[in-house]
Amino acid sequence: MAYASCATFQPLSNSLGAEVTNFDVKHYIKSGSADKFHDEVCEYQLLCFRNQKLAACDLISLTKLLGPPLPHVLQQYSLSGSPEIYVLSNIVENEKPIGNPREGFGWHTDLAYMRKPAAYTILYGVEVPEVGADTLFASLYKMWDWMVDEEKSYIRKLRGRYSYLKLYEQRENAEPLTEAQKQRTPDVIHPFARIHPKSGREGLYIGGDDFVAVEGSNEPEHDFDRIWSLFHDTTVRFHYNHKWQPNDLLIWDNRGLIHTATDYDTKNSRRLIWRTSVEGEEPIASKLT
Ligand SMILES: [Fe+2]
Repeated sequence: MAYASCATFQPLSNSLGAEVTNFDVKHYIKSGSADKFHDEVCEYQLLCFRNQKLAACDLISLTKLLGPPLPHVLQQYSLSGSPEIYVLSNIVENEKPIGNPREGFGWHTDLAYMRKPAAYTILYGVEVPEVGADTLFASLYKMWDWMVDEEKSYIRKLRGRYSYLKLYEQRENAEPLTEAQKQRTPDVIHPFARIHPKSGREGLYIGGDDFVAVEGSNEPEHDFDRIWSLFHDTTVRFHYNHKWQPNDLLIWDNRGLIHTATDYDTKNSRRLIWRTSVEGEEPIASKLT
């Protein structure tokens, strides 16, 4: 079985995303084939599956179906016995947080600070607040399509420097990174104009607060502001707001999509999200024009 023939894809917004219905993810995992799936997530950028009953082993199997898992640098927040699953949560048990309570706030694409950033991210909502904690998404592909040719030509010549160390320094009350964590995250440089390895689609690629400098520019400070302006415009023009329900499963393609977590009542609500990432390729730069 590739994809269940009765599955339907209902667009979630004008910019991106589809809700998939008549589809049992666990059944799909048993099929052992992800070929068709890659096409759908490429097309819609974000897929939402409601009411999926998944155990940790199911989530890991699904992740492996899509590619090599990319465990998070901060392994102290991984699910016990499952290093592939990174726990996002405000829940405290035995006076210890069971997950990272402040991960994912601020627009970004996942793991741009890695040499091979995440191709896909998978989030599974074990417990979600009734109000707040939405996840917002915005399409860098739509932004690229909207840009004029002159700007695209200019952007194709530039690259961005990404630093996990600088990103981590901005976090309040974070425990220091270990030497091993620092060794795993040297600065990396990626193109701003990126080609999707499967679809060949060209799009804008900007990480988020791990983006620290423009490379290959005669006016780096001016171009730094220019890149942030494009990033901000993307969030305003081409976005989708996901309101969580328990047992939602979201899967997205990070190559042309940015996202952010949003706040909620952390004192009176419980949030428990399991996250996995699939390793991607070194970003492929567009040809210069
Ligand atoms: Fe994220």
